[in-house]
Amino acid sequence: MLKARKYVVKKHFQGVPKREDYEIVEYDLLPIKNGEILVKSEWISVDPYLQVHNPFHQVPYDQFSFQVGTVLESKNPKFPVGTKVVSHKGWCDYGIIDKFDDPFERVYKLPDLRGLPEELAVGTLGMTGVTAYCGFLELCVPKPGETVIVTGAAGAVGSIVGQIAKIKGCKVIGFAGSDEKVQWLESELGFDKAINYKTADISLALKEAAPSGVDCYFDNVGGEISSTIISQMNRFGRVAVCGSISAYNEDPTRLPKATIMQPSIIFNELKIEGFTVLRWSNPDRWPQAIADLAEWIRSGKIRAKSHITKGFDKLFDAFIGVLKGENSGKAVVKV
Ligand SMILES: NC(=O)c1ccc[n+]([C@@H]2O[C@H](COP(=O)([O-])OP(=O)(O)OC[C@H]3O[C@@H](n4cnc5c(N)ncnc54)[C@H](OP(=O)(O)O)[C@@H]3O)[C@@H](O)[C@H]2O)c1
Repeated sequence: MLKARKYVVKKHFQGVPKREDYEIVEYDLLPIKNGEILVKSEWISVDPYLQVHNPFHQVPYDQFSFQVGTVLESKNPKFPVGTKVVSHKGWCDYGIIDKFDDPFERVYKLPDLRGLPEELAVGTLGMTGVTAYCGFLELCVPKPGETVIVTGAAGAVGSIVGQIAKIKGCKVIGFAGSDEKVQWLESELGFDKAINYKTADISLALKEAAPSGVDCYFDNVGGEISSTIISQMNRFGRVAVCGSISAYNEDPTRLPKATIMQPSIIFNELKIEGFTVLRWSNPDRWPQAIADLAEWIRSGKIRAKSHITKGFDKLFDAFIGVLKGENSGKAVVKV
């Protein structure tokens, strides 16, 4: 009988997740039943949302996340043996998939990437890419010549948002957490300006970089930096609220306070909208976004960088690395 391993979350995280919050469980895989498939994992995603979702799940639970794998056994004619699948089966080396229609636990055949690396299917050509593409284009509605700000700019979602903004003819300014990331954004991804939020005077640096004000803000981090950016927005500016990673390690009952934004929102008649990517999980939208992103990668308009960690045993380290900002581009683990 085939042995499988999976990461089980045993405890709710208190602040930064700890290794002891997880247990790697080895178990015998049961024979698959009608309708099921057995998948061998190849690429597994590590993302900040794994931390965000933790309080909403009863422990113990299997650590979910997007992954790419190959069907080893099948009793489901839609997914024959050898098919590459993208699923939400998460941190396991082998897994049996028995649910196919849940929008959160999406399972679909790996699209034909025409030679692009398969790991992109959990990054720019997967959930993070759809987040950047739909969240930015539909909520910020950028126009050529406008000024766009992206926080978390060197990360999986942010680095793609900034490059889409350039494709749309905008001026793009990104905030990231190291000089190396700033250099990468400016010299390789074509950002007009990048700013190290850990060392700069954020308000001053933004005034210098965007003297005519900010039209669109793609917010990955929340907190005081977002209040500062929103206070420098132009009339009828648009904000897409994607994440608030600056507070993910905080006690949810005592979240940090940030400067009040209502006067800027009112007097500049701003539109601020939150979203989850599940909004676009209908059968047409997701593949359309991925097709456009793939085309942009092929034509060299978008660079999709993967930050690869090797080894099933390194999943936890890779996850913590993302929360500490060790990644540029999309963090992913090769099993
Ligand atoms: N709404 C949705 O449906 C949706 C979907 C996907 C992702 N998200 C959100 O999008 C954001 C980015 O996610 P991602 O998957 O692309 O991750 P990511 O940006 O690749 O990785 C997280 C990055 O956040 C930065 N960071 C960590 N602590 C920070 C802090 N205290 N202040 C500012 N930045 C900090 C780090 O970069 P630095 O070195 O620059 O600090 C780190 O590299 C997250 O907030 C995530 O929850 C939302």
